[in-house]
Amino acid sequence: MDVFVIEGGRRLNGRIRVNGSKNAALPLLAAGLLTDGDVMLRGVPDLSDIRNMERLLGELGAPCERSADGSVSLKVVDDSDSHARYDIVRTMRASICVLGPLVAKRGGARVSLPGGCAIGQRPVDLHLRGLEALGARIELEGGDIIAKAPESGRLVGATVFLGGPFGSTVLGTANVMSAAVLADGVTVIESAACEPEIVDLAKMLTAMGARIEGAGSPRITITGVESLGGVDHRVIPDRIEAGTYMCAAAITGGELTLEDCPLDAMMAATDALHHIGVRVDAVGSSDDPMRREVVVTGSGELSSVQLTTQPHPGFPTDLQAQFMALLTLANGNSVITEKIFPERFLHVAELCRMGASIHRQGATAVVTGVEKLTGAPVMASDLRASAGLVIAALAARGTTVVNRVYHIDRGYESLETKLAEVGAMIRRETAESVEGAAV
Ligand code: EPU
Repeated sequence: MDVFVIEGGRRLNGRIRVNGSKNAALPLLAAGLLTDGDVMLRGVPDLSDIRNMERLLGELGAPCERSADGSVSLKVVDDSDSHARYDIVRTMRASICVLGPLVAKRGGARVSLPGGCAIGQRPVDLHLRGLEALGARIELEGGDIIAKAPESGRLVGATVFLGGPFGSTVLGTANVMSAAVLADGVTVIESAACEPEIVDLAKMLTAMGARIEGAGSPRITITGVESLGGVDHRVIPDRIEAGTYMCAAAITGGELTLEDCPLDAMMAATDALHHIGVRVDAVGSSDDPMRREVVVTGSGELSSVQLTTQPHPGFPTDLQAQFMALLTLANGNSVITEKIFPERFLHVAELCRMGASIHRQGATAVVTGVEKLTGAPVMASDLRASAGLVIAALAARGTTVVNRVYHIDRGYESLETKLAEVGAMIRRETAESVEGAAV
């Protein structure tokens, strides 16, 4: 197992290009199952989650081919196997994205039911309820979801409400929307997720011939079509990767220029940074609001804030850990409330091992700013928690060893290379070669 060894205290300075979005690319790849045509996706990040999705699509008869320029092409060559097996699903919950496309296009699917994960229970009841509303018959057998289209072989348009106890569901909206594009008649998704990744999926499906209105708002209307064609689509840049590098610049009092920054989708994060005392300025001439050049300048003085995670356009849960790391060094008390995944606080204890002062009560954490953090061996527990530990380590005095960086590799391409290029002292080692690392 690999670890990151980080010597803190270096001011970051330089340029980083933001990658294509992992959470956009996963449902886009799955949507490739909806057509017999050629699918070309550009700007797909090279991550273990993406590789798992490519492997899954290969098993479902749609081999994927990656080029050095970051594009992935795929085409369905065999539609006889519609079983997403447990050994892939358990490594990547987003495998559930294939369910909607498979039922819609092939008339049936068997997809292993994802279990819980480090950030909470994560049910898929809303996905299933949505597909049932479109006429799918759903059963559970041996830990697998078995979904079948009606006798006619085609799903039927319906009005579907996707609100749950924590707001809408991003992948649930992706699943139902992807299924509805081939259904007979009109589907209205009410309380749909408004995340930019849903807008990107709608854009790709529309380019394939789907008829979708309202993506990005809580009501999406889809008029089903008989078939979809091939597509050549560029994935939106990753707002969470961009936000993570913004926190890295801020905590080191540095200055980073981010290229291809999806600023338009980051209002809640940049507003929080503004209140914390970090400047975020769009520069350059790009007129694409999702691909701006942005300069992030940390002043060295950080102020406390109150943050509550919410569905988009609220503050994203996927940046909660990184902002918590940043706020450990802010003046005063910050209050962070997690309203999407109330258990998503595994980074708290690890940050405290580095000298942070954080008091958690239920879904709220009070972060009292301290003068300094000190390097320590810490354990990555999930993707974003691990990114938070890296942020803290960049500012900590001394050496931090972040164990289990395979979590980070799920969502950040070459994190250590990108940070090293802008001045961080970070290197990847095998756990066996580092004293004190968890082997
Ligand atoms: N929920 C239900 N029932 C469902 C589905 C969700 O109650 O059927 C609940 C969840 O338990 C949670 C809330 O609804 O409390 C929102 O979950 P959502 O379904 O929106 O999450 P997701 O679609 O499974 C995606 C991202 C996550 C991100 C969340 C929230 C992907 C691959 N994953 O998950 O990203 O945290 O939306 O924005 O897009 C990450 O990248 O680190 C990550 C975890």
